[in-house]
Amino acid sequence: MLSGPIPRHVAIIMDGNGRWASERRLPRPFGHRAGMKAVREAVEGAIDAGVAVLTLFAFSEENWNRPATEISALMDLLEEYIAKEVAELKGQGVRVHVLGDRTRLTPGGRSAVEQVERETAGGQKLSLNLCISYSSRGEIAHAARLLAEEVLKGTKQLEDIDEEAIRAKLYTAPWGDPDLLIRTSGEQRLSNFLLWQLAYTELYITPVLWPDFNRRTLLEAILDYQRRERRFGKVTAS
Ligand code: IPE
Ligand code: IPE
Ligand code: MG
Repeated sequence: MLSGPIPRHVAIIMDGNGRWASERRLPRPFGHRAGMKAVREAVEGAIDAGVAVLTLFAFSEENWNRPATEISALMDLLEEYIAKEVAELKGQGVRVHVLGDRTRLTPGGRSAVEQVERETAGGQKLSLNLCISYSSRGEIAHAARLLAEEVLKGTKQLEDIDEEAIRAKLYTAPWGDPDLLIRTSGEQRLSNFLLWQLAYTELYITPVLWPDFNRRTLLEAILDYQRRERRFGKVTAS
């Protein structure tokens, strides 16, 4: 069925856990817990489809402004997810990287993140990037600071600061830009996710709430992607 081009890099804004829980008159953390199964579906679906890189937005810098009880439930779930899935991920050939300001995580969260990165370091099939405590504007500011430092040290010249120099300092530098961005729960905004990287990415917004996301949803998004014409500002070749 997937005979057309497969997006090499898929990014997902995993949204709608709270609404999924509210619809069931459950507290919001139940939605986050249900969302863990959807992460597994996304990973397995990506491997099956032949996607090489999957970048998931799990927790934004702005999400630190949520109630403390919700934040601690999310951090507990992160540790639980890693403890539960690390062996499976490793077995599937998934290599995990965590992108974002990990200094804000609890010591337990930080060591879980280090553990999953270490134990999956040999994965060759799928690169799974988990964006946690991530802000795209923060990432760009960080890149600017790194470049400014190099100029001050004299290891870089002012004329060397171009698009490529900035790209190379982003957290996503090793993987390139997403071909397809999926946002669940119908919201039509980027919420400070990969602002630089999404310049020419195809967008796919689905009303499906994140806990209901499965391989089928991913497949539908990829099929939709295959009907797009990516022009990158050029005219269509005739
Ligand atoms: C996405 O679901 C998960 C995180 C942002 C951590 P939400 O918690 O944002 O769910 P809604 O948008 O309130 O339904
Ligand atoms: C974006 O979702 C962040 C994640 C999915 C992790 P939010 O629910 O935080 O975004 P807004 O507040 O609706 O823009
Ligand atoms: Mg939300």
